[in-house]
Amino acid sequence: MNAPAPAAQALGGLTRRLGLTRPVVLAPMAGGIGTPELVAAVSEAGGLGSLGAAYLTPEQIAAAVAEVRARTARPFAVNLFAPGSELPVAPTAAQIAAAAAELAPFHAGLGLPPPALPARVAEDFGAQFAAVLEARPAVFSFAFGRLDAGHLTALRGRGILSIGTATGLAEARQLAQDGVDAVTVQGGAAGGHRGGWGSGRDDELAGTLDLTRRVAATLEVPVIVAGGLMTRADVQAALDAGASLAQCGTAFLRAAEAGTSAPYRAALAAGTAPTGLTLSFSGRPARGLVNALGEAVHSPLPYPYQNALTRELRAAGAHAGQADVLSLWAGEGYRLGREDSAAGILDTLWPR
Ligand SMILES: Cc1cc2nc3c(=O)[nH]c(=O)nc-3n(C[C@H](O)[C@H](O)[C@H](O)COP(=O)(O)O)c2cc1C
Repeated sequence: MNAPAPAAQALGGLTRRLGLTRPVVLAPMAGGIGTPELVAAVSEAGGLGSLGAAYLTPEQIAAAVAEVRARTARPFAVNLFAPGSELPVAPTAAQIAAAAAELAPFHAGLGLPPPALPARVAEDFGAQFAAVLEARPAVFSFAFGRLDAGHLTALRGRGILSIGTATGLAEARQLAQDGVDAVTVQGGAAGGHRGGWGSGRDDELAGTLDLTRRVAATLEVPVIVAGGLMTRADVQAALDAGASLAQCGTAFLRAAEAGTSAPYRAALAAGTAPTGLTLSFSGRPARGLVNALGEAVHSPLPYPYQNALTRELRAAGAHAGQADVLSLWAGEGYRLGREDSAAGILDTLWPR
């Protein structure tokens, strides 16, 4: 019998420490999809639920964590977007006007006033991080950047495990050097935002299993793999490639407990749209179903400004049942998804 890869051995310990019975992480899904109910359901069924808290205020983080804890005593993760290594440059008035002009017809179509940037474009990471420390989840995961030594020390001091996100080998190495407890590598098929940092120069958009093999063979820290994992065979292949855990987002989009809106669910169920990477909704590359708004934007503001500029339109579109203006994040494997309870979906990914 082959000896397990060092990374797999290491996370064996982490899996035991967390008391997981299945090697599956529910991907954090910010923006209302990863509800506390969904997070708790996955953790309760033996996976690791992750609360996508990036768009929540510190008070909302505390409330969401309390809601998860009211439903399960098992461990779960809280996830934030770390401050990027390159600070966003505030857009000029001309850039804002150009980006708003592209959204204007969609606003008019829904009877909304013309698009305008809100005063607050994003939550303050420092305040969110303080709320996470206070809430003390078993795991803190982050994307879009690195944490400084002070953050990592604060997490360690509270017994919170840290997991960073990389889209290529260089970023994975950097996170390991920083001292995270595990690294999530995101293959190019993944739904949602590319989780790396900088301007995307290090994003390999690699095949999930290829990236897993290279990173697991190189790093000493445990590797979690995300991107297009939709079936039991996919999870097994990820483990065989050297991963310690498989992280699945799209597979849970149609879970009964997910906050996925009705038009979003319908677009997923139809299975007709291809997926593609777009900057249109947030100013950062993300994979989702190709739709009208995604195609109509050619001069998005940088993240987080575009995200703030499109927020009102996305909320109104969900309410009005208009999938054409929604960020329909989905991985390349989305057609293999199905409606079921979170526990039922987990059973298909890794039977009890
Ligand atoms: C709707 C949606 C929202 C997401 N939000 C986050 C997030 O808040 N934080 C994060 O680290 N990753 C987020 N991701 C990316 C996932 O962590 C993961 O990389 C991806 O779902 C894996 O690919 P899959 O969707 O094919 O399973 C999101 C993905 C989706 C589909």
